[in-house]
Amino acid sequence: MSNNEDKFKKIIAHAKEYGFVFQSSEIYDGLAAAYDYGQYGVELKNNIKEYWWKSMVQYHENIVGLDAAIFMHPTTWKASGHVDAFNDPMIDNKDSKKRYRADVLVEDHIEKIQLKIQKDVEKARKRFGDDFDEVQFLTTNQRIIDRQNEIEDIKKRLYTAMEENRLDDIRELIEDLGIVCPVSGSRNWTDVRQFNLMFSTEMGSLSEGANKIYLRPETAQGIFVNYLNIQKTGRMKIPFGIAQIGKAFRNEIVARQFIFRMREFEQMEMQFFVRPGQEIKWFEYWKEQRMNWHLNMGIPETEYRFHEHDKLAHYANAAFDIEFNFPMGFKELEGIHSRTDFDLGAHQKFSGKKIQYFDPEINESYVPYVVETSIGLDRTFLAVLTFAFNEEKLEDGSERVVMRIPPFLAPIKAAILPLVKKDGLPEKAMEIFDTLKDDYMCFYEEKDSIGKRYRRQDAIGTPYCITVDHQTLEDNTVTIRERDSMQQDRIGIEQIHEIIKNRLKHKS
Ligand code: GAP
Repeated sequence: MSNNEDKFKKIIAHAKEYGFVFQSSEIYDGLAAAYDYGQYGVELKNNIKEYWWKSMVQYHENIVGLDAAIFMHPTTWKASGHVDAFNDPMIDNKDSKKRYRADVLVEDHIEKIQLKIQKDVEKARKRFGDDFDEVQFLTTNQRIIDRQNEIEDIKKRLYTAMEENRLDDIRELIEDLGIVCPVSGSRNWTDVRQFNLMFSTEMGSLSEGANKIYLRPETAQGIFVNYLNIQKTGRMKIPFGIAQIGKAFRNEIVARQFIFRMREFEQMEMQFFVRPGQEIKWFEYWKEQRMNWHLNMGIPETEYRFHEHDKLAHYANAAFDIEFNFPMGFKELEGIHSRTDFDLGAHQKFSGKKIQYFDPEINESYVPYVVETSIGLDRTFLAVLTFAFNEEKLEDGSERVVMRIPPFLAPIKAAILPLVKKDGLPEKAMEIFDTLKDDYMCFYEEKDSIGKRYRRQDAIGTPYCITVDHQTLEDNTVTIRERDSMQQDRIGIEQIHEIIKNRLKHKS
């Protein structure tokens, strides 16, 4: 097991053990790709949502919020292109009866070749020692060049077949590469078929006998179909934005990697409506703003990178992802897309309603262009867990797991702990709890030794532990212990509020 796989397993186990994330319906052996957020998970999730909402809605005079229904008129998904084109190519192995995403099988094969290249590099590094020049080796070693060419050929075949929807070619590629089913080890594959990712269900009383409706696969369409409502009732002037946080559903074929790829998940999306021709300026603006939002959490810059889309969707004229260094490597966390007038134009066409904006500055009407920022809440949660999880060896030889969650996002801000369960200490501790609870999520506990209680708070990322002892009764002072440094100070009770407040400060 690689270090990263090992770390991922530990994070998943920790998230369960400490009440962050549970498998859905666990007592019935679980439901794949659905997860429940426990007592600390829900607090962290709410704090991430609040951070996003404040920075997008509250701090922008020209962005407003929306909470649209999950169910939408089925024509919405015709107009958006999801009924016809929101597909993944899938293939079944006849022996194991397991289903795979055909493109992912090929991509996994490519990754294996890449691993071989890495191994060759490591071997050469050992052989040549200090004289080793990696760039020269990669560009001149024939075996490496052959492998890189092989990767390029495979990619070309895969992406052309995907783009032109030639499913037989994808199957042929899988056969040519000799890809076997990871479970049965056989090459006994079915044909490749397209698989629509939308969940559908029945609704009683739709017109024209149509009763099939979909669970929304993205929140964005709720924003597009409400564009006119909000622009008119909010008297919004372009440029302006509409933001929304909500559930989305996708019947992912390969749902693995914990809360990274789920069938029910949450998105935080913002559509920014602009004058045609100004979209690239706004795209650049949002690209920078969104990266700053991530960095302002206090997670280092090295954990993020931009990834420019090689091939743009037909309606987009610019697209970047923000990737995060998850335990399984750099993967998409957020997308920033310039979507032109594709969506509003399509809804105008399918609904027959005029969706136009009269721009008094240029005396013209037009269908606004859209710059979208779309981030997965669950993936942000996983990014925070990945950054926060730390196993530490302490000076005295003992070990601790500490979740270095950015303090303003921590589920619990302060734990109030009476040293012993008698002599009036619990009552005094509850008094302190009551003075803080209006402003901060606090935790009260009197069981177990103080050392064990500190460790439990470290494990859920609580920035401060406040211990009430006999001296507290005499002079109204407590011990305050800081999570990361484990430093303990004696302070007056009246200082607690201010100390916590200062620690929670962050840029927005
Ligand atoms: N409206 C644009 C849109 O939905 P997307 O790239 O398909 O774009 C946006 O999704 C974000 O939603 C992704 O960057 C990711 O963070 C999150 N996301 C997408 N599918 C997901 C899944 N199955 N599980 C968890 N998060 C997902």
